[in-house]
Amino acid sequence: MAPVRSCGAFYLYSFFLLLVSSESQSVFRGESFRRKLSVELNPGRPAPPPPGGDLLHVRAVGLNDTLHFLFCSQGAPTLLLVHTNSSSSTVEVDWPQFLMRNVSGSLRVEPESSILQSNAIVFSRLLEYDDVNDTANATSDLFPPYDLQDFTWAPLNLSGASALLCGAAATFANGSLCLKLTVFDSEGRDQMLPRLLHSANSSQLEVWLDGLLPRASRSRFLLELQAVGGAYPLSRVEVRRSIDDEFTPTIFKVLQWLPPLNRTSHGSGFLQWKPVSYRRSSPSVEEGSPTRSSLPRPQRGEEAFSALITAFYAEPETFGMNVSFGISGEPFYDRSRFLSWTVLLGVGTPPMDSFSPMVLIMMAVGLGTPMMLLVLGGVCICVRKRASASNYEPIN
Ligand SMILES: *[C@@H]1O[C@H](CO)[C@@H](O)[C@H](O)[C@H]1NC(C)=O
Ligand SMILES: *[C@@H]1O[C@H](CO)[C@@H](O)[C@H](O)[C@H]1NC(C)=O
Ligand SMILES: *[C@@H]1O[C@H](CO)[C@@H](O)[C@H](O)[C@H]1NC(C)=O
Ligand SMILES: *[C@@H]1O[C@H](CO)[C@@H](O)[C@H](O)[C@H]1NC(C)=O
Ligand SMILES: *[C@@H]1O[C@H](CO)[C@@H](O)[C@H](O)[C@H]1NC(C)=O
Ligand SMILES: *[C@@H]1O[C@H](CO)[C@@H](O)[C@H](O)[C@H]1NC(C)=O
Ligand SMILES: *[C@@H]1O[C@H](CO)[C@@H](O)[C@H](O)[C@H]1NC(C)=O
Ligand SMILES: *[C@@H]1O[C@H](CO)[C@@H](O)[C@H](O)[C@H]1NC(C)=O
Ligand SMILES: *[C@@H]1O[C@H](CO)[C@@H](O)[C@H](O)[C@H]1NC(C)=O
Ligand SMILES: *[C@@H]1O[C@H](CO)[C@@H](O)[C@H](O)[C@H]1NC(C)=O
Repeated sequence: MAPVRSCGAFYLYSFFLLLVSSESQSVFRGESFRRKLSVELNPGRPAPPPPGGDLLHVRAVGLNDTLHFLFCSQGAPTLLLVHTNSSSSTVEVDWPQFLMRNVSGSLRVEPESSILQSNAIVFSRLLEYDDVNDTANATSDLFPPYDLQDFTWAPLNLSGASALLCGAAATFANGSLCLKLTVFDSEGRDQMLPRLLHSANSSQLEVWLDGLLPRASRSRFLLELQAVGGAYPLSRVEVRRSIDDEFTPTIFKVLQWLPPLNRTSHGSGFLQWKPVSYRRSSPSVEEGSPTRSSLPRPQRGEEAFSALITAFYAEPETFGMNVSFGISGEPFYDRSRFLSWTVLLGVGTPPMDSFSPMVLIMMAVGLGTPMMLLVLGGVCICVRKRASASNYEPIN
């Protein structure tokens, strides 16, 4: 009798393990929602590339919606994401007007009534300061900023659904600033640190500063971003904490830039990042450096010039934020002359790390083993008691 019972407990325990791991796997794969991606460089423009920079259009078509990702280097580098409720919406560019850079409506998403919402992120300025006292306080000793709208940008280097954009300021002694955009057709996780989780409704932008000769040996850098939207731009930062740092060791926080609270709906836009930058092109935990970000503030009159924003929005609303790289005590830029940082721009629910199957199995084993021992112990005691009870004759 006893062996049968303990076998039962063991089967129950194995079944529990299986259940946990299969469930976590289905959580991980999501509903395996897929978008159909198509990439077009300078849509609707015949052969010669436009003077002043490329315009990339990635269409990500769902069952009955479309995400239009537009990435442009005319002016400050800009990524615009337009979500429509139709799988046949299109992007129309009036090139002569677009190239005049002063006409709103020269880039349209048609039909206009299908637009659910749009958000853009503009990389406006690179700031450098001399951190003489190693306080990592950007208010001291700022050098003249580098305006990204004045950079010379190389043609986009496309590969699949990703695009690499590199540029430099005329005043850069050496080195370059690069942005790599990747659009995804399904859920997944980047192989490189910070190993951000993405969905089919988000794109990833990695920014890096490589080989720039700093203007002081103790220089640190800041990157200024602007979020542009129609009626409800991304205007507040939400910090989410986690007890799990499995994918980005030592980083327990995710920050996201969202629309105002009373305007957050299921389909609103988001910008998401982890507060970490890396000092090497092949990032490792040891070369990670914390980032800090300022609170978003309205940028009336301080908007960076972006041909894409001018062409798409009639009345853009802009919020700006600084991301500063490194904290007091961390190595200065000069040591490795490299800095990278990664963000996601998307719509809908921002991706959120969950415990991986491995961690869940470890938890199941950790919690399950004592439980199984308890159950087995209980069974043994029960069986013994019964056995011993039957050994004694009732006392009359
Ligand atoms: C969108 O697709 C889903 C699933 O195919 C369907 O249930 C829904 O009714 C569709 N919505 C519209 C507006 O067509
Ligand atoms: C745009 O700039 C061109 C010259 O580059 C000028 O002729 C035109 O009037 C401007 N349009 C508007 C709407 O400002
Ligand atoms: C969405 O689709 C419906 C029907 O195709 C349309 O009437 C509506 O105006 C569209 N736009 C929005 C923002 O819902
Ligand atoms: C650095 O520290 C020195 C001495 O404490 C101080 O005089 C100086 O103002 C500080 N510089 C900055 C930029 O904070
Ligand atoms: C950094 O600058 C702010 C003012 O902008 C000041 O309040 C703060 O004390 C400074 N922190 C340090 C460590 O110097
Ligand atoms: C484009 O990028 C690939 C790797 O991403 C690189 O090997 C290639 O040299 C780049 N081409 C140009 C023209 O920069
Ligand atoms: C700029 O880069 C080149 C090649 O990488 C190097 O030879 C040169 O010394 C660098 N110049 C400065 C000022 O660092
Ligand atoms: C949303 O909240 C902002 C302040 O956070 C307020 O100014 C605005 O009027 C609110 N809008 C609505 C529709 O409640
Ligand atoms: C970023 O920092 C610089 C220098 O401190 C400041 O001039 C600028 O206004 C800041 N931008 C935002 C959006 O806070
Ligand atoms: C992505 O968008 C599709 C279509 O709107 C939706 O069905 C799906 O739930 C979204 N996924 C996430 C993770 O937001």
